Amino acid sequence: MEYKKGLFITFEGIDGCGKTTQIELLNKYLQEKNYKTVVTLEPGGCEIGKNLRQILLFHKGFVSDVAEMFLYLADRAQHFEEIITKNINEGKIVLCDRCIDSTVAYQGYGRNGDIEQINLLNHIATKGKKPYLTIVFDIDIETAQKRVGSTKDRMEKENLEFHQRVRQGYLELAKKYPTRIKVINANQKIEEVFSDLEKIIKEIL
Ligand code: TMP
Repeated sequence: MEYKKGLFITFEGIDGCGKTTQIELLNKYLQEKNYKTVVTLEPGGCEIGKNLRQILLFHKGFVSDVAEMFLYLADRAQHFEEIITKNINEGKIVLCDRCIDSTVAYQGYGRNGDIEQINLLNHIATKGKKPYLTIVFDIDIETAQKRVGSTKDRMEKENLEFHQRVRQGYLELAKKYPTRIKVINANQKIEEVFSDLEKIIKEIL
C-alpha cells in the first residue's frame, strides 16, 4: 500500500488459532522461492519489546487496562522504528505475528476500550504505516482453548467471553477492511489452512 519496496504482512487471531505454525510454513515457502523474509512478532520483536512481553504476559499482580494498552503500543512504536520499517525498506517481506489489529481486537473489543482512541494511538505508534495484507485465522473458541493447553499466560487466562469478544472483533475488522484483511478458517487441518494461505499469498506476489 504505502511501501515502495518490500512487503508487510501481519497474522492475527485468538490465542490457539495456529498462526505461528502457519507463519513458519509460509516463511519456508517464500524462502524456497528466493524471497528475502524476516519473521517477527508483537509483543517482543525487539529488545525493549522482549522486556515488555515479559510484563504483559507474565506479570503476577494487577495491570490496569490503560497501562496494558500503552505497553503494547510502546512495544509497537519501538518495533516499527527498529525492525519493521527498516526491513521493508531493504526490500524484505516482513511477516509479523500480531500487530495493530491485536490491540483493536484485545484492548478494544476484549477489554471494551475505545476503538477510535486505539486507532489513533496505533497511528502514532506506527507513524501511519499499515500492513499491506493481514490474515485472520478464525477458529472456534473451544478448539483454540484445547490448543492453548493448561499452561496459560496472563492473556490466555481471560475467560471465554473475553476470547469470544476478541474473535468477534477480528471478524468485524475483516468486514470493515475487506481489501486488507482476509479471513481463513483455522478449524481445518494444518495443510488445508496453509493451502488457503498459499492462494491468498500467490495473488499478491
Ligand atoms: P502470542 O505472541 O503468543 O500471540 O501472545 C501475545 C498475547 O498478547 C496474545 O494473548 C494477544 C495479546 N496482545 C494484545 O492483547 N494486544 C496487542 O496489541 C498484541 C500485539 C497482543
